Amino acid sequence: MNAATSASSGSLSDRDGSLSADEMVAHLVPPRQFGTASLDNYRPDRDYPSQGAAVAAIRNFAIGAKTGGLFKRVPVTKPGIYLDGGFGVGKTHLLAALWHQVKGRKYFGTFIEYTALVGALGYAATARTLKGASLLAIDEFELDDPGDTRLMGRLLSELAASGTRIAATSNTPPNALGEGRFAAQDFLREIDSLAARFDTLRIDGLDYRRRTSQAQAAVSSDVEGELAAIGGSTTLDAFDDVLAHLASVHPSRYVKLVEGLNGIGLTGVHSFGNQTDALRFVAFVDRLYDAQVRVVADGTPLDQIFPDEMLSGGYRKKYLRAVSRLVALTAGSD
Ligand SMILES: Nc1ncnc2c1ncn2[C@@H]1O[C@H](COP(=O)(O)OP(=O)(O)OP(=O)(O)O)[C@@H](O)[C@H]1O
Ligand SMILES: [Mg+2]
Repeated sequence: MNAATSASSGSLSDRDGSLSADEMVAHLVPPRQFGTASLDNYRPDRDYPSQGAAVAAIRNFAIGAKTGGLFKRVPVTKPGIYLDGGFGVGKTHLLAALWHQVKGRKYFGTFIEYTALVGALGYAATARTLKGASLLAIDEFELDDPGDTRLMGRLLSELAASGTRIAATSNTPPNALGEGRFAAQDFLREIDSLAARFDTLRIDGLDYRRRTSQAQAAVSSDVEGELAAIGGSTTLDAFDDVLAHLASVHPSRYVKLVEGLNGIGLTGVHSFGNQTDALRFVAFVDRLYDAQVRVVADGTPLDQIFPDEMLSGGYRKKYLRAVSRLVALTAGSD
């Protein structure tokens, strides 16, 4: 493919995902996109009072976390908070805002990043590394894998006992029935020994990205030219080559694939024929979104790559969220 051999852009396939344990710990900060997220620049939707209530509750929670657990004050709130809600209502924004407000040693990562860290360092060394932190923020708490959930529950118990405050958000549950309404109860049940120490907040609302951006992903008529206009570090690949590469890299390492990139070009985009490729691409889109990497693509519009049978299946919410993110990333600025 001609376009894929452009001199100005590298190839995603040449980037490997190796990440040392130290690098993994250093990555435990909010993604670039949420570098300036604050409670003040979160605009609650008046139609959904739970949004304003969440801001107030998080403000309160941050006050409780200020001492980092060193001084035993009368607790204003419970030591844990769980933000439950649909996609695009600002859960990650609020979690990052909380992280920015809290002083002391603190960590911010996705559930997958924490379990990958345990995988790399082992349980004991991970607990030792994180212990003593004032705040542990966990984005997209996964309840799909009982082993991982138990592991995280144990880690959280240990950290909470040492005074660390814990904030988590819900992920999109694989089964969309009930629209995630039971996620909070599931979460509490799974971390049952800790459940009494968590306040859960349900945040309702519309996908914020849809408030401002268009509903469709942009299709480029000149992928190479648009990439050149973005400038900086970019890659250009055939869509199928990217899917093949994603199959060879563990999803916890996708963060490394996109590190430092300003934009990626995808040629010959087509809709997915199998769910495994589709779910890998969803995980990849999450990392592109976190790093705010622009996407320039031709072929099938990126909001139409998940066929109806996938959209009506158990991973519906994951796919819809990926579409929402792809629309934002192809639109340029968000
Ligand atoms: N009420 C709001 N005011 C200002 N910005 C918002 C608000 N809600 C969301 N945003 C912005 O919209 C984008 C999407 O929000 P965010 O990623 O926090 O949502 P989320 O609930 O974590 O969604 P997801 O399910 O995709 O993880 C972010 O750029 C965020 O900063
Ligand atoms: Mg989020």
